[in-house]
Amino acid sequence: MKTDFLKYQAQTTPHPLAMEISHAKGSYIYDTKGKAYLDFVAGVSACSLGHSHPKVVSAIKDQVDQYLHVMVYGEYIQTPALELSKLIAYHLPVPLEVTYLVNSGTEAIEGSLKLARRFTGRSEIIGAKNAYHGNTMGSLSLMDYDERKKPFLPLIPDIKHITFNLESDINKITEQTAAVILETIQGGAGFIEPTDDYLTKVQKRCNEVGAVFILDEIQPGIGRTGKLFGFENYNCQPDIVVTGKGLGGGLPIGAFTASKEMMDSLSDNPKLGHITTFGGNPVIAAAALAALKEITSSNLIAETLEKEKIIREQLQHKHIKEIRGRGLMLAAFTESAEITSEVILSAQKEGLILFWLLFEPKAIRITPPLTISNDEIIEGCRLIKSILDKI
Ligand SMILES: Cc1ncc(COP(=O)(O)O)c(C=O)c1O
Repeated sequence: MKTDFLKYQAQTTPHPLAMEISHAKGSYIYDTKGKAYLDFVAGVSACSLGHSHPKVVSAIKDQVDQYLHVMVYGEYIQTPALELSKLIAYHLPVPLEVTYLVNSGTEAIEGSLKLARRFTGRSEIIGAKNAYHGNTMGSLSLMDYDERKKPFLPLIPDIKHITFNLESDINKITEQTAAVILETIQGGAGFIEPTDDYLTKVQKRCNEVGAVFILDEIQPGIGRTGKLFGFENYNCQPDIVVTGKGLGGGLPIGAFTASKEMMDSLSDNPKLGHITTFGGNPVIAAAALAALKEITSSNLIAETLEKEKIIREQLQHKHIKEIRGRGLMLAAFTESAEITSEVILSAQKEGLILFWLLFEPKAIRITPPLTISNDEIIEGCRLIKSILDKI
């Protein structure tokens, strides 16, 4: 299988992990040799309810029996997409009530940028240094990582960068600015939380100059940080909230939500301001609706904070220098990139899935499913410590 994988599937790195998957259930992934792996990564924060959650699977099966794709997004009324959009609105503060469903996180980012430009009639977009918003041309343009951007230049113009958490940069947001886009918690950079009222101040400045404040909740959102949306932790409210990953219950999705007044600008003058064939796909929306119902009607969100406590208690070790993040969006830092890589690779051999962060080589990603049990957490942490003991 590995030879064919390398031959026929496009690769993202020269050294993929290339684990051969048989099946996955709950907090475990099984390879084709029957070995079980405890999953501390959850498909990079996407499988919030673990693998193949019965309510998600049942919603998918029910929908498959009704209809699959019937029409491009926005023309026909399809219950799963409508109910999902209504439930998102129910859980967001006014005036965030209209959702555009798309196919991936990065597409939702693109939609949010277009919406901000269309709504304000301005072009300048301000992003943060060390941010990650996805890999399409617009999202890539927001990144300030020259080494990764260079081969793809020229990207979209009129992008500026500020330093996340640096208050003196906030005045770079002006009447020229269409939008400021930030991750609520910077992910790839090392799970960096906003300092106390940084986001409140950015929001205030955006309001003063008429810029649209966009928060990328693709990773922290949908329950991972002790609240349904990460921004609820930081006393602020975006004009556009972008979600993805955990919203899909394991299927591909992206969404951006704004006020009706703002969102209406995408459908008029010119009409068809953003269009998609498969956005709001009924099977995916049914899975997302089941996942969102389960996450919001159970104790899972509150439990993320208890589980965070257990992880912080359990991962006391001389090689763990710091644990950043909140809830079940945690990054454990060792003193070197080499140790971090050794832990991640050894863990896989021993049946524990860990992973790297995009731009911070000393960090070990710990983003398990929200459904992981306390015992599973303790077992995973024990394995990490036993690997560190040997270093
Ligand atoms: C904060 C953030 N924004 C955007 C994206 C892009 O989402 P997708 O990979 O679904 O396009 C990601 C994915 O890792 C992300 O973590």
